[in-house]
Amino acid sequence: MTIFSPSILSADFVNLQRDIQEMETRGADWLHVDVMDGLFVPNISIGLPVVKAIRGVTGLPLDVHLMIDRPLRYVEDFVKAGADWLTIHIEADQPQNTLEALDRIRAMGCKAAISLKPRTPAEAAIPYLTKCDMILVMTVEPGFGGQSFLWDMMPKLKKLRQMLDEVNPGCILEVDGGVDANTQQVCKDNGAGVLVSGSAYFKAADRDAFVRMIRA
Ligand code: DX5
Ligand code: ZN
Repeated sequence: MTIFSPSILSADFVNLQRDIQEMETRGADWLHVDVMDGLFVPNISIGLPVVKAIRGVTGLPLDVHLMIDRPLRYVEDFVKAGADWLTIHIEADQPQNTLEALDRIRAMGCKAAISLKPRTPAEAAIPYLTKCDMILVMTVEPGFGGQSFLWDMMPKLKKLRQMLDEVNPGCILEVDGGVDANTQQVCKDNGAGVLVSGSAYFKAADRDAFVRMIRA
């Protein structure tokens, strides 16, 4: 069974509660919340007040993906705002600060995750393999929904699964970016345990069937 974490980035922000409740009704396992600062990525999305507001209207685990520069500054605030899983990018700071951020997240009882941009090799994750609960492999350049899936990320995903099996088998792999009916199976085949989908979920003619396919 694959965990489905639909991304609210493609939701109707004016009717966010309605869209979240619909995701919940249709069987979403988690909610993927993309936080962008206009610095680490060339887009600005939402921040702490919105995460807090979402926490108030859903019981689903919040899978918060921080695409922000030097996330150490904000990890405690996002855990307090309601994140259950908090992901930081390893490209966003020096290794010692990334390690410190992961420690702080876990110390607060939240699950900690790292993410790798498409050009970041699997080996860059080595210092963090035993310090996190999940690794998020980006299959598009972070920043925008609706981009095309980068098929050549699959060897990296597979490699990370093999590396984790040796030192931290309980750590799960999440794939984010361009996940749709054509690309979901290859992610699972290469070790993904969690799939994020934004535009494909919202565009699906039959959203119930889409959720069933992802979770199968
Ligand atoms: C992109 C975000 C994704 C985005 C995925 O930077 O991290 O979570 O919502 O959207 P789709 O599924 O449209 O690629
Ligand atoms: Zn994301």
